[in-house]
Amino acid sequence: REDLPTYTLEEVLQHTTMEKRIWVTYGQGVYDITDFIPQHPGGSEKISMAAGSSVEPFWMLYGVHKNPNVLAILEKYRIGNLSPAEAAEATANMEDPYARDPIRHPALKPSSKKPFNAEPPPTLLTESFVTPVDLFYVRNHLPVPEISENDYKLEIHFQGKDYSFSLDDLKTKFEQVTVTATVMCAGNRRGEMTEIKPVKGLNWGHAAIGNATWSGPRLSDILRYIGVKENDPSIQHIQFEGLDHDVSNVPYGASIPFNKAIDPKGDVVLAYEMNGEVLSKDHGFPIRAVVPGTVGARNVKWLGRIIVSDVESDSHWQQNDYKGFNPSVDWDTVDFSKSPAIQELPVISAICSPDSGSVVKLNSNSSLNMKGYAWSGGGRRIVRVDVTADSGKTWHSANITAQDSSKEPHHWGWSLWSIDLPIPQGVREVELWAKAVDSAYNTQPETFANIWNLRGVLGNAYHRIRVQVAS
Ligand code: HEM
Ligand code: MTE
Repeated sequence: REDLPTYTLEEVLQHTTMEKRIWVTYGQGVYDITDFIPQHPGGSEKISMAAGSSVEPFWMLYGVHKNPNVLAILEKYRIGNLSPAEAAEATANMEDPYARDPIRHPALKPSSKKPFNAEPPPTLLTESFVTPVDLFYVRNHLPVPEISENDYKLEIHFQGKDYSFSLDDLKTKFEQVTVTATVMCAGNRRGEMTEIKPVKGLNWGHAAIGNATWSGPRLSDILRYIGVKENDPSIQHIQFEGLDHDVSNVPYGASIPFNKAIDPKGDVVLAYEMNGEVLSKDHGFPIRAVVPGTVGARNVKWLGRIIVSDVESDSHWQQNDYKGFNPSVDWDTVDFSKSPAIQELPVISAICSPDSGSVVKLNSNSSLNMKGYAWSGGGRRIVRVDVTADSGKTWHSANITAQDSSKEPHHWGWSLWSIDLPIPQGVREVELWAKAVDSAYNTQPETFANIWNLRGVLGNAYHRIRVQVAS
């Protein structure tokens, strides 16, 4: 790298437009990233914010960049160096935006610490129907915002007017309900998809999912209270904004279809309690939108604003992320405007016990106890979980050991299952598969090969693990 020219910060600052080319710095390196901008997975607008300066303050906020993959991409665009003194100056006075994040339970295994993203050991998931708050996976895109209960206000924008509700209003003006709902990240099980081909995204295992009870007023009641009419054709989407925001004050945002929001049976809740406890900082204190049956990304935490609208949220996470594509679409050909934003999730299941790769002891009748979860979006009930120990020659249906008692199609919580599966005599290694069937008779695809997508979402192929049989 010494063979490259040395530039000054002043020179870098001249390069902030596509015509003059866009330069950025990282450490001592100077990079011309003009050609990478259209391919940036975080969008061309975001990356352009660093034009003419250091990417580091932004990367402190978006910790996904602190990995060798991203640095390897950046190195391809290196054109020169800063002097050591100027490199130090470029990042002076940087404060860690994550310094005030809460302390987490050490059992949560982080795939990224800043922002904090972590899942519990999968074997714990099947121990209780309701996942303990401290062991519930966390998926944050930004630092956890600090919000005081007394100052908190929920703003709602509807037909040119703004309405405001205090926490007390939300707790006292409306009927309070408790809904059992599973929340799952669209990237749950992404790790298995990356075995086919790498994807851009956090490497989740199969525990980016949890089941909880959520209490608070129904969104549909609040919307009706401010005069929203169920059959108003001008309303198509309900947008949510979080109080977590990036360096340019852009909040986390998402939207859901109006029909889901206004339907009292859609059970969308503005929750201030999770499992009967005050909502924790990581899960959205003081208010979070819980949208049962819908992908985690739309369950907006630290809810600050609701917009009643004819259009979807224009947020990066609604428009340019959390969408599916065909397996041949890559970062050169992807057009995010061509795919709908994920809302209801497809049917999924996973084996939580035994652990993949473990050594297992068989029961005296040569069977093996297996446990797992199964869930489907849209309130569809799990009607069956099929498992096999011989690659599908013989399938056995597991016992559903826990399921919420709601009626079809409002089955928002997951199902837990268990089976003593017969294992062929004498085998030393066995591959176990599981697949679930929901009440619409949707089932899971056999392999990840044909559902691979560049963002690594919707990974619901049969779950397959290998275990060694103890002699
Ligand atoms: C995501 C590369 C600059 C904001 C990503 C990802 C890559 C990448 C590879 C996908 C990571 C993953 O999900 O695993 C780069 C490179 C940059 C750059 C090579 C060089 C200049 C920036 C800047 C910003 C930014 C300056 C912000 C101002 C984001 C955001 C995401 C992202 C918001 C999406 C994060 C998420 O899904 O939560 N970037 N980036 N990037 N980037 Fe960048
Ligand atoms: N809401 C806000 N305000 N900010 C976020 O980063 N992440 C979303 C969603 N709501 C997010 C958010 C995503 S992608 C998921 S999967 C869920 O929250 C995770 O919820 P949890 O952390 O409570 O498990």
